[in-house]
Amino acid sequence: MEKLTGKKIDTAVFISGSGSNLNSIIKNSLKKNFPIKISLVISNNKNAYGINYAKNNKIKFKIINSKKMINFESKTLIILKKNNIKLICLAGFMKVLSDKFIKDFKYKILNIHPSLLPKYKGLNTHKRVLKNKEKFSGCTVHYVTNKLDSGRVILQKKVRIIKADNEKTLRKKILKIEHLLYPKAIKLALKN
Ligand code: GAR
Repeated sequence: MEKLTGKKIDTAVFISGSGSNLNSIIKNSLKKNFPIKISLVISNNKNAYGINYAKNNKIKFKIINSKKMINFESKTLIILKKNNIKLICLAGFMKVLSDKFIKDFKYKILNIHPSLLPKYKGLNTHKRVLKNKEKFSGCTVHYVTNKLDSGRVILQKKVRIIKADNEKTLRKKILKIEHLLYPKAIKLALKN
């Protein structure tokens, strides 16, 4: 596994949608002593708004929208190798990577999920949390395995849910802390 050596680690961020976490990671990566450089953005969705953050920051991006995951993964692995990528950050990437991809890539893969994992894996997190009248929710950055939203937790942050919260306010509140948590977790993951 890659250690901090002074040179910024070439990193790819995988997105499927709005890309606000991508934006926050890019901003952090521009700081002198942040350990990674975003060298590549991969989107499986050609309409993902997040692609604009790559464009605006002159970061190389690829849209790989193969329907079959096996095709997505083989194309992606070639591009990752070409670009010397040594870390992948999934940021709102709504596909599950196979065991083979994870093994073939060889380096660390991180993901962020908007819940206090292991609770509320999968989709419609905020809706389910509110339906169950939870008092807290939050977000988690974890290592990626071939099981959905599983893998060792790197960092987790809690937020209190108030009576007035709805899906929109909860999503907004949690995204705000995701933008702080992900960069912290990246630093931590690269120290270990
Ligand atoms: C974020 O809330 C992220 O935690 C979630 O998708 C959103 C993407 O927002 N990811 C998952 O649910 C993964 N299972 P963004 O595109 O604005 O970063």
